[in-house]
Amino acid sequence: MPVIKIKSNIGNYNVLFGNIAAYLKDIEKRGLRKCYIIDENVWKIYNKKELNNINKDEAIILPISETKKNLNTVKWLYNTLIERSAKRNLTIISVGGGITQDITGFLASTLYRGVNWIFIPTTFLAQADSCIGSKTSLNYRNFKNLIGTFYPPSEVFIDPGFIYSQKTLDFYSGLGEVIKLHLMGGIDKTKDLLRAYPEIIAKDRKTLEKIIYNALTIKKAYIENDEFDRGKRNLLNYGHCFGHALETTSRFKIPHGIAVLFGMMLANIIACSRNLLKKDFKEFIFSKVFLPSACILPKKSWLQKEAVLGAMKKDKKRTGKDLALIMLMDGCRMMRVNDVSEKEAINALRQLEYCLNKDSLNKL
Ligand SMILES: NC(=O)c1ccc[n+]([C@@H]2O[C@H](COP(=O)([O-])OP(=O)(O)OC[C@H]3O[C@@H](n4cnc5c(N)ncnc54)[C@H](O)[C@@H]3O)[C@@H](O)[C@H]2O)c1
Ligand SMILES: [Zn+2]
Repeated sequence: MPVIKIKSNIGNYNVLFGNIAAYLKDIEKRGLRKCYIIDENVWKIYNKKELNNINKDEAIILPISETKKNLNTVKWLYNTLIERSAKRNLTIISVGGGITQDITGFLASTLYRGVNWIFIPTTFLAQADSCIGSKTSLNYRNFKNLIGTFYPPSEVFIDPGFIYSQKTLDFYSGLGEVIKLHLMGGIDKTKDLLRAYPEIIAKDRKTLEKIIYNALTIKKAYIENDEFDRGKRNLLNYGHCFGHALETTSRFKIPHGIAVLFGMMLANIIACSRNLLKKDFKEFIFSKVFLPSACILPKKSWLQKEAVLGAMKKDKKRTGKDLALIMLMDGCRMMRVNDVSEKEAINALRQLEYCLNKDSLNKL
């Protein structure tokens, strides 16, 4: 089974791949003082199957949603753990997607100034992207991911079998980040992704494992030398400036990775108009990877131009008057620009709307 070793200033850790039932047996043998925190939806699906060996007295079942990714939930978890006599030697084992990761990672990093934390991601997005990189985030008031810490798990365990039970929209959300990472990995990795695309959609287990491995290996190269996000790592925000705005204005009906996918399309339109990205390549990836994934959205009410622009202006990473954007350039090179004007952004939104209608996304 493959292993990815991640270097971190806080503590190195391994990403392991395999079968969840076998892994849980291995955990039992370690004799840990532990508490599982499990996404309620995952628990409902798997408690009589792969997760049936988990002792219920050692588990907290957590109802999750983007609106629950906040300090109140963390406070409730502090209280529940204290009532269960949790001490400094506790190991928290989280089972769920990116929301579970963000809540429980924050919890693990702050309880007793940091307790041992193992993460078992159950969504495509969490397996192929968010499980590495040390970031934990909470939403605060209307601001997404405003509060957070840097705190990596001590181990990540990936069983791609969890992906089969995901809702289609959530699966495509993961695919959005997977596409982003492969584009950032260069031409060869992008070609690998295009070749594997039909098997990914068919959820072939071996292909999923390979594509998750590739995505994490690409991300590793961006995070290891810039764990605290002061330079190169910032490029991982490709698609995220527009993406966060779309996510917020849709009130989280558009899941994260799909919003990022639209964000990448918008960034590419601007890069193209600035002659940084060839039109052929922009249209090639638009039709081959973006369009089939974008089609999955149930309706086209997502593009409220003024609202999206307003939300972008509030982006926490923005510092000056203009908008900052990560752009993909020819040769799959990445660049950050700080001078995208409102006019440019509105034009890009209009152009995207036109392309989507033209190629019709009547299905939207
Ligand atoms: N910390 C980071 O570095 C980082 C990076 C990217 C995204 N994120 C965050 O991750 C969140 C999105 O995470 P996500 O896309 O993994 O999804 P999620 O955690 O929001 O889960 C999506 C839905 O799928 C359900 N679910 C989870 N696993 C399932 C499974 N195996 N089968 C069936 N249903 C399942 C959940 O209950 C939920 O209803 C966002 O809040 C985003 O901000 C964090
Ligand atoms: Zn993201």
